[in-house]
Amino acid sequence: MTALLQVNNLQVRVEDNEILHGLTLTVNAGEVHAIMGPNGSGKSTLSHVIAGKPGYEVTGGEILFKGEDLLEMAPDVRAARGVFLAFQYPVEIPGVTTMNFLRTALNAQRKARGESEFLVPEFLKKVRDVAASLNIPMDMLKRGVNVGFSGGEKKRNEVLQMALFQPSLCILDEMDSGLDIDALRVAADGVNALRSPERAMVVITHYQRLLNYIVPDFVHVMSKGRVVKSGGKELALELEATGYAQYEDVAA
Ligand SMILES: Nc1ncnc2c1ncn2[C@@H]1O[C@H](COP(=O)(O)OP(=O)(O)O)[C@@H](O)[C@H]1O
Ligand SMILES: [Mg+2]
Repeated sequence: MTALLQVNNLQVRVEDNEILHGLTLTVNAGEVHAIMGPNGSGKSTLSHVIAGKPGYEVTGGEILFKGEDLLEMAPDVRAARGVFLAFQYPVEIPGVTTMNFLRTALNAQRKARGESEFLVPEFLKKVRDVAASLNIPMDMLKRGVNVGFSGGEKKRNEVLQMALFQPSLCILDEMDSGLDIDALRVAADGVNALRSPERAMVVITHYQRLLNYIVPDFVHVMSKGRVVKSGGKELALELEATGYAQYEDVAA
């Protein structure tokens, strides 16, 4: 079986500093993986390189997505093929309403796949249904993308995009940062509703708390640019008890 995502010995530099030093990770369709690790261990860097954010130099290794060389694909091609990253810090886009952004992005992806574009009424109905399930008021979607959104609203907006785009690989970078328990539960429920045998999720988090709501099949510990330990969901609980200090030594 071809893995959905196969990262082999990935080495990445940012401004002459090597941040990822040979990272290997296999994610199959249907699986939920958690990546945990202290601040600065390279979690966001990994997510950015997979999504195709500029500014990163891959100096070694490879990333295969559905068996194809992901690093050869432009970011918009990656999105159209089904890669989605929910950012740790979602960007604000003043002047572009969330509704317009969602429709333009969704239709661009559909077009790239040779599918028909959604017309406005059809799209509106879809957004209304999904937004209601995520407690997102329609008023919020008439504002500029993320402009004046609270932390919780920004994260719910990321989940809304995920639900509309129906990507096959969802990467969630610190979805829990800045969320209170109620907001976290709404966002996590939205994510859980998207779990499916055809889709995989990579949930990046510093804390175990999120994994009470989105229960992973596998947990990986990252330290200093590598995966230093992998296990089942119990590994997250173990980490909560022992902290990351023991793994700092492993990576040194
Ligand atoms: N644009 C950048 N320029 C310089 N250093 C960076 C940049 N982005 C990340 N780094 C460095 O790379 C390391 C990993 O960062 P990051 O991937 O954000 O870690 P994490 O998400 O695990 O907290 C950190 O030491 C950080 O300072
Ligand atoms: Mg980060």
